Amino acid sequence: MRVLVACEFSGRVRDAFIARGHDAMSCDLLPTDVPGPHHEGDVRDVLGDGWDLMVAHPPCTHLAVSGARWFKDKQAEQVEALDFVRLLMAAPIPRIAVENPVSIISSRIRRPDQIIQPWQFGHGETKATCLWLTNLPPLVPTDVVDGREAVVHRMPPGPDRWKLRSLTYQGIADAMAEQWGSLDA
Ligand SMILES: C[S@@+](CC[C@H](N)C(=O)[O-])C[C@H]1O[C@@H](n2cnc3c(N)ncnc32)[C@H](O)[C@@H]1O
Repeated sequence: MRVLVACEFSGRVRDAFIARGHDAMSCDLLPTDVPGPHHEGDVRDVLGDGWDLMVAHPPCTHLAVSGARWFKDKQAEQVEALDFVRLLMAAPIPRIAVENPVSIISSRIRRPDQIIQPWQFGHGETKATCLWLTNLPPLVPTDVVDGREAVVHRMPPGPDRWKLRSLTYQGIADAMAEQWGSLDA
């Protein structure tokens, strides 16, 4: 399966698919954190390159409900961010998953098809993650564990905090590759 992982610098979803024999590439404005197939640039330039599946992690800075107290000051940024999400959802790719935290995508575009938690995939933490799915089944939890710590909110401040907070959980990356990678291309 040819898989595009849009807006990913960590390589986690990309490498989970590659480990299962797929032809996957990540794309981000930033360089890839770990070596692997990566397009460093605007994902809009590669959407039409013949992919079977896209997993997209668009920026949530102007969309996440956790930042609601700043919404009135960033309406133009929100319009732009929502247009980017709409463009990803409408990409010419047969199977698409768009991932974001609880955000205004739900009220301004459509409700998510699924809301998952890291504790359903082997990580004892809470972080509601919404999935908007096109031609993909909801993810089935792979490893429900006990912990319910909101660890991400206790990360120390610093320039890399947003990066650490936005990393895809390995258990979720593995579930995407295992479950969606076994569908027909
Ligand atoms: C919330 S982070 C997602 C991180 C991802 N979960 C990971 O593990 O690497 C959103 C990313 O979107 C990237 N981005 C924003 N606009 C983009 C564009 N037009 N094309 C490609 N990447 C873009 C940003 O550079 C940022 O790294």
